[in-house]
Amino acid sequence: MMNSPMIRAVDVHKRFGTVEVLKGVSLDVNKGEVIAVIGPSGSGKSTFLRCLIHLETIHRGSIEIEGEALVNTDAQGHCQYVPPPDISRVCRKMGMVFQHFNLFPHLTVLQNLIEAPMTVKGLRPDEITPKADTLLRKVGLFDKRDSYPSRLSGGQKQRVAIARALAMEPDIMLFDEPTSALDPELTGEVLSTMRELAEERMTMIVVTHEMAFAREVAGRVIFMDGGVVVEARPARELFAAPEHPRTRAFLVLRLFKSVKHFPAGFGIFRSCKKGLFSRYVQNHFIKVRKQASIWNFA
Ligand SMILES: Nc1ncnc2c1ncn2[C@@H]1O[C@H](COP(=O)(O)OP(=O)(O)O)[C@@H](O)[C@H]1O
Ligand SMILES: [Mg+2]
Repeated sequence: MMNSPMIRAVDVHKRFGTVEVLKGVSLDVNKGEVIAVIGPSGSGKSTFLRCLIHLETIHRGSIEIEGEALVNTDAQGHCQYVPPPDISRVCRKMGMVFQHFNLFPHLTVLQNLIEAPMTVKGLRPDEITPKADTLLRKVGLFDKRDSYPSRLSGGQKQRVAIARALAMEPDIMLFDEPTSALDPELTGEVLSTMRELAEERMTMIVVTHEMAFAREVAGRVIFMDGGVVVEARPARELFAAPEHPRTRAFLVLRLFKSVKHFPAGFGIFRSCKKGLFSRYVQNHFIKVRKQASIWNFA
C-alpha cells in the first residue's frame, strides 16, 4: 500500500501479569519521520518499542507495519497475531538497537554484522561482506572489523550494533536509549551516527533522554507517562511550550540537569502551576525510590 504509514499502532494495551503498562498507546509514523519518545523511567517506552517488533505480545489493539498487519483486535476484543511466517517477515522491516548493545561476544565485529543476514536471509559470507564493510566504514569502524566486542569502547560497540541492525536493510530503525549506558564523552559519536541516518531519511523511533538530540533531530516528540501518550507534538513546539503539566514538570527536571539547558528549563518552570508541579516532582521521586528498592539498589 503506497500511502500507508510506516508504522500504525492503534490503542495498544500490554499487561505484565495484572499490571497494565501500556494503556492504549496509538502512534502513526510516516516515511522518513524521526520520532523521539521521552518520559520518566517505567512509563512504558521500552515496552512499546518491544511490542512494535514483537519482542512482547500485546493484549489489545492493532499494529501495522508499512500497511501490513502484525496484530489486530476484532470488535469482540479478541486480539490475534498474523501467522508466524508473516510475523517474521513484517518484523524484518525493522531493526532495533538496545541500551546494552547486545553484541555477540564470541564473534568479531564483522561476524556480528553478517550473522543475521546469513542465518535469516540465507546469504553467503561473500554476498554480505562487501555490504558489511561499507556499513563499518559508514560508522567509522572499518579498522575494528576483526576485533572482538570486548576490545571496543561503549561508543564503538553501539556503533557496531547500529551497523549490525542496518546490515539487515530495515526500512525502520528503533532505538531504545542507545546512549544511556555510555560515558558522557562517548555519547556524541553515537548521536552523530544517528543524526546521519536521520539526514538520509531513515524512518526512526528513538527513545532517549538526550533532550538536545530530541529537539534538534526529531520531527515529533512523544511524551509518555504511566503507559499513555500524554503529549505528541512537533519537537520545537513541545520544547518551547509544553502543554500538559506532566510534560512541563518532566522537562524541567530533565533540563535542570544540564547547565546548557538550564535557561530553557527555567523558562518552562516559570509557566508551571506550582502546586501541580511539586506534586509531580514528589510522585516522581517516590516512584524512583520504590523502583530502587524493588531492584535492591536502595
Ligand atoms: N518483563 C517484564 N515483566 C514485568 N514487568 C515489566 C517487564 N518489563 C517491564 N515491566 C514493567 O513495565 C513498566 C514499563 O517498563 P518499561 O517499558 O521498561 O518503561 P521505560 O522504558 O519507560 O522505562 C515498568 O513498571 C516495568 O517495571
Ligand atoms: Mg526503557
